[in-house]
Amino acid sequence: MTNQVSICVLGSGYVGLVAAVCFAEIGHRVICVDNNEAKVNMLNEGGVPIYEHHLPELLGKHLNRGVEFTTNLAYGVEECEAIFIAVGTPQGSTGSADLSYVEAVVSEIARAVNGYKVLVEKSTVPVYTNEWITRCMHRHGVEPGTFDVVSNPEFLREGTAIGDFLHPDRIVVGANNDRAADVLRSIYAPLTDGSYFAKSDSLPGPLSQENPAKLLVTSAQSAEIIKHASNAFLALKISFINAVSNLAESVDADIEDIAAGMGLDSRIGPKFLRAGLGYGGSCFPKDVAAFYWVAQQQGVDFQLLEEVRKINATQQEIFFNKVRSALWTLRGKKLAALGLAFKGDTDDIRDSPAIDVIKKLIAAGATVTAYDPAAIEKAKGVLPASESMSYAASAYEAAENADAVLILTDWAEFAELDMVRLDQALKFPIVIDGRNLYKPAYMREQGFTYVSVGRPAAYTAQQGKPKRLVLS
Ligand code: UDX
Repeated sequence: MTNQVSICVLGSGYVGLVAAVCFAEIGHRVICVDNNEAKVNMLNEGGVPIYEHHLPELLGKHLNRGVEFTTNLAYGVEECEAIFIAVGTPQGSTGSADLSYVEAVVSEIARAVNGYKVLVEKSTVPVYTNEWITRCMHRHGVEPGTFDVVSNPEFLREGTAIGDFLHPDRIVVGANNDRAADVLRSIYAPLTDGSYFAKSDSLPGPLSQENPAKLLVTSAQSAEIIKHASNAFLALKISFINAVSNLAESVDADIEDIAAGMGLDSRIGPKFLRAGLGYGGSCFPKDVAAFYWVAQQQGVDFQLLEEVRKINATQQEIFFNKVRSALWTLRGKKLAALGLAFKGDTDDIRDSPAIDVIKKLIAAGATVTAYDPAAIEKAKGVLPASESMSYAASAYEAAENADAVLILTDWAEFAELDMVRLDQALKFPIVIDGRNLYKPAYMREQGFTYVSVGRPAAYTAQQGKPKRLVLS
């Protein structure tokens, strides 16, 4: 039997909303607070503001049973013992995280405190934020001993967020005393004792009753750093393979073989070694910058992180040059762009390499018709339809009469295109793939000129391999 904890989640963005429904799913009572009234109304009427597998079912299952949505922060705080702070921590001008939303909610929490509370940092925050929160509570007159601050970083990925939450690789709890750590242990008990996985309606995944989740207790500072260091390390892995891909390309080696050969070493592992257009999204770019800033503040020279960022930015330049080199000139060219989201299986376009590449191509005089299975509406906000930008309802419609197809996002459906249909739609059979979704030999057989990342390009007999061009 779950020891039910009353949980208030502040913020109904990606992390907050997923955490709120998942806490309800494992048996707790949850009040999710957001100051955006329209969003709260939408959620209360059964709307789902983000594209995420299993979220609609779980919201349907728990709305007004395990989880309620409100704009009333004081009500959430008064009713609950654990208060998860999951508000935005956007990137400030210096690269540091902007913590003004965190400070604002902490001040409001302080005004509503009516008994012992555990404040939990769920948003990604720099080290020592736990101390700032403590100080802020004291400044607002909350007595020491009536609250604790815990860091419980979230490692979920967009698109698979619900699965990541309920079947985590690890749960990290950074608490500076046992009382607070025990509240978090109780909250996650259904995942760590396996009782959740024994339920007939639990979400299937890698964990089970016999192999439940692992919970690691550390100091608050260590937990804050675990989050930044994990994301920065994954970004580093991607930049590393991207740097190697550029070397591979210049010596006619194949980055997919190289990554497979490296990944078989169990110390390295095969994940996050996919070369391509580079990383984007709401976390990696922001967290690499924020972690670099944290190191600088402490007088630690962590130049490596700056290199990770630079390699990532260069990757888009290199891709742009590939498009130019395959098409000779860009002015007046009609290009089909497959993908707008920062990765497949999400409608999120924040810091999306696809959007940046399209902007550069348009600035160079090309016209672009884009298709994405989920992100078109969001993309229209930053790339409005115009003479040089339009949107299509399918990959084939985007390719109609285009000079080339560009693959910019790794959606599964882009890896299964009907090449005969694509060929018929296109003016020239040219595919420039920023996500390595096809094998060059296969594309050559299908009659395409195929340019990808870190692998020799495949040319059809008619197109022939161009001499190495020097681009200014
Ligand atoms: C990431 C972390 O994985 C997650 O733990 C954290 O909580 C939030 O940030 P997310 O941003 O959803 O999650 O996406 P992720 O799947 O990690 O991909 C990030 C970016 O890296 C994407 O743009 C993706 O296309 C790119 N990527 C990923 C690569 O270019 N190569 C890879 O091998 C893996």
